Amino acid sequence: MDEQNRPIHTFQVCHVMEPNQNNWLRSGWIQRQAAQKVYVELRFTLRDCNSIPWVSGTCKETFNLFYLQTDEPLPLGTRFRSSDYAKVDTIAADESFTQTDLGDRVLRLNTEVREVGPVTRKGFYLAFQDVGACIALVSVKVFYKRCPSTLRNLAAFPDTVPRLDSSSLVEVRGACVENAEERDTPKLYCGADGDWLVPLGRCVCSIGHEEMDGYCQACQPGFYKAYAGNIKCSKCPLHSSSHDQAATICHCDKGYYRAIKDPSNMACTRPPSAPRNLISVVNDTALFLQWTPPSDTGGRKDLTYNILCQRCDSNNEDGGAPQCEPCESDLRFIPRPLGLSGTSVAVLDFAMHTNYTFHVEAVNGVSGLGIAARSLANVTITTHQTGPSLIGVVRKDWATHNSIALSWTEVEQPPSDIVDYEVKYYEKEQEQLSYSSTRTKAPSVVVSGLRPSTLYVFHVRARTVAGHTAYSPKFEFETADEDPDMADHGQVLVVVTASVGGFSLLVILTLFLLITGRCQGYIKARMKSEEKRTRFQSGHVPFSGIKTYVDPDTYEDPTQAVQEFTKEIDPSRICIERVIGAGEFGEVCSGLLRTPGKADIAVAIKTLKGGYMEQQRRDFLREASIMGQFNNPNIIRLEGVVTKSRPVMIVVEYMENGALDSFLRAHDGQFTAIQLVGMLRGIAVGMTYLADIGYIHRDLAARNILVDESLICKVSDFGMSRVLEDDPEAAYTTTGGKIPIRWTAPEAITYGKFSSASDVWSYGIAMWEVMSYGERPYWEMSNQDVILSIEEGYRLPAPMGCPVALHQLMMHCWQKERVQRPNFSEILTFLDKLIRNPSSLLTVVNNVHSYPESPEDMPDYPLFISIGDWLDSIKMSQYKNNFLAAGYTTLDSISTMSIDDIRRIGVCLIGHQRRIISSIQSLRLQLHHIQQSGFQV
Ligand code: ADE
Repeated sequence: MDEQNRPIHTFQVCHVMEPNQNNWLRSGWIQRQAAQKVYVELRFTLRDCNSIPWVSGTCKETFNLFYLQTDEPLPLGTRFRSSDYAKVDTIAADESFTQTDLGDRVLRLNTEVREVGPVTRKGFYLAFQDVGACIALVSVKVFYKRCPSTLRNLAAFPDTVPRLDSSSLVEVRGACVENAEERDTPKLYCGADGDWLVPLGRCVCSIGHEEMDGYCQACQPGFYKAYAGNIKCSKCPLHSSSHDQAATICHCDKGYYRAIKDPSNMACTRPPSAPRNLISVVNDTALFLQWTPPSDTGGRKDLTYNILCQRCDSNNEDGGAPQCEPCESDLRFIPRPLGLSGTSVAVLDFAMHTNYTFHVEAVNGVSGLGIAARSLANVTITTHQTGPSLIGVVRKDWATHNSIALSWTEVEQPPSDIVDYEVKYYEKEQEQLSYSSTRTKAPSVVVSGLRPSTLYVFHVRARTVAGHTAYSPKFEFETADEDPDMADHGQVLVVVTASVGGFSLLVILTLFLLITGRCQGYIKARMKSEEKRTRFQSGHVPFSGIKTYVDPDTYEDPTQAVQEFTKEIDPSRICIERVIGAGEFGEVCSGLLRTPGKADIAVAIKTLKGGYMEQQRRDFLREASIMGQFNNPNIIRLEGVVTKSRPVMIVVEYMENGALDSFLRAHDGQFTAIQLVGMLRGIAVGMTYLADIGYIHRDLAARNILVDESLICKVSDFGMSRVLEDDPEAAYTTTGGKIPIRWTAPEAITYGKFSSASDVWSYGIAMWEVMSYGERPYWEMSNQDVILSIEEGYRLPAPMGCPVALHQLMMHCWQKERVQRPNFSEILTFLDKLIRNPSSLLTVVNNVHSYPESPEDMPDYPLFISIGDWLDSIKMSQYKNNFLAAGYTTLDSISTMSIDDIRRIGVCLIGHQRRIISSIQSLRLQLHHIQQSGFQV
């Protein structure tokens, strides 16, 4: 019977009294399908041997799981050969039942899951070997994991089978949904557990479509979308409409228009009405026109005015209709005739005794687009002539490259009252843009200041006592070519002057440097190093009394820093035993450091290989000058240096377990949560110290942490040269820096903004490395994808089995804004609280999807797992419905439950009641201390 007292079918065996049992049960042939690795979930009960009298020696409490892969089902009647089957595992029960349980009708059901694989053939059999236990096999579930087909960021991703190797992800490209187009290539990674991770890139809805429920839907009539992107369809602007679906633009209503440069979201407009109230005022030589703007601007702001002029000859000899012609080019308009933004203009240079008619036209950006009537206002004036043009022919007498000499003849019998002549001229090519004029009393002039090889237009008029006469007709003359010899002379002069000037300057500068230069250089360098040192020192000392870190680069002479911060060791005291690795500068060895009267100390010795350059020696010893300033149990201790003999050496304490990343990989899954938190604490202590004295590490990562025989972790690897050159993880950024991208905070990658807060980000990554036993952060994603995904808000998910509180802490270290990250002493306080309350580490992550992927998604309060997850984690899954039916849906709601509440919701077994209540108590503690810690988790 099952827990609900329903009969179930089981396979049972119970030959516990007889020795040497070897009983087999085999499944039918199971097709592999797409699986590369299958999971077998077994549910079974097992009798406690101690509860059966007289069976010690024969009764067993385990059974074995085997499998056999084949491409075909075995032919019927094939003899069973156990040797064909490969063993998967020996299965033991968490719970065995006794006679009393039988009496109480208590079912102690065990659930065990095993991985089988790699499976490569078309199918396989499972087989169970009993060696003398009393077992009932209740169910066998065989399954494999796949990332289910899904839609993300408007891209569809197919059903994908994960890689066999659980540390590598399958990169899957998505295909944009219908009516969407790619922005950045949409990608997802399929994780080993069938979870989709790291969404990258995206598609956006095409023009005429908008996003709805993960798809791109056509815009409805009356709406439009002119650009691809994740924006909604917009309502058609005023005076426009769309009648069909998926409109990319709305068409203007009749009589309304859109200018070429008008954006699609602008209302349709129409030409303006005519300017109003046009008036003209005439003085001696000028006409002023003024008007008021049209009553309807057409809905636009780009209203301008044009002045159109017509000259009509009223002296028509035939007495016929006056001949009219455009006259804008004969007159001068101030400021100009076309494109006026104001509502007035002055007009000059009228000919005498002529009728002029002026039209003022209002135009805007859609004038000319199918308009029937022009928006005109007009006015007519007649000028009174003092006389016709007195000038006959205008001649060019001579011309140079920049001047023209002109002379002209007067008409026969010129009046005696000619005061002077006005010569008006302009470049033919630049006609109407600008012109010049000059006056002369004689009938000739030399016009200078002209451009070489350029055609000019000239006309001349006379001024009499009564006023100006009409202009002569226009005459065109050209200036001469430029004289090459003249130009060359000019250039030579400039060059000679410049060289003489440059030479004198050079002499003066050289003399000045000889006298002051070296002294200046020295003072500057001194000032630089003093200034830097004071800056470092004054920045951190004040209250703590902790010695501050001094950057060895601030020393003019780096040897001075080595002398100040390190101890010279006599090489005879060093006994090298083995080579343990290779560093940037040479081999790393282990050995002993002897001190007379004291016990030998195990040391690691970094050597500088022969044939080095002076700069390499400085870089090598730079790390010692840094390390020599530190004094903390979680920072690798410098014993001393050998600089006075060859080889140059740096001697540090020996750390038996080497680098933390490789150490964890070699001991996968072998530590308790408390041990791992202990390691994290050690790193946090070291980093708190470094932050306090003002040292920024820049390359904090598990590979740069060393572990001693008692699992104490110490921060090592100091000095930028390592970051730049030796760290295999460091890659060049677009700005040319070499940075370990996966460990580095975004502001440090982008702007080179390194700080203790960027070290905190790296600490979060190192935490993740520790909790995943040396997994590579972001797996095998490219550096580019890592940067992109961080920018898009993605963060590393919790490693399997990682206490939720620790993942929450990592997420805080990965806040985009560095000021929102905790500092190292806050991290330390938090870890200390976890260590004091080990039950807080019990809530672990088993399903990456129940946790936020980015710090922004984190709730304010740690209600981060469901009741179901919690009951699964304490193996009380059978009560999920009891809790939910009684209205307990959040962890918050159960945190106040008493044992009576537990009983009331239907948990009858005392053992189960106890297990549930003790877990609630530990949850309560966890909630409490997370709140206390001050973190908003
Ligand atoms: N490798 C580099 N430094 C080391 C040290 N101090 N102890 C052990 N292995 C090391």
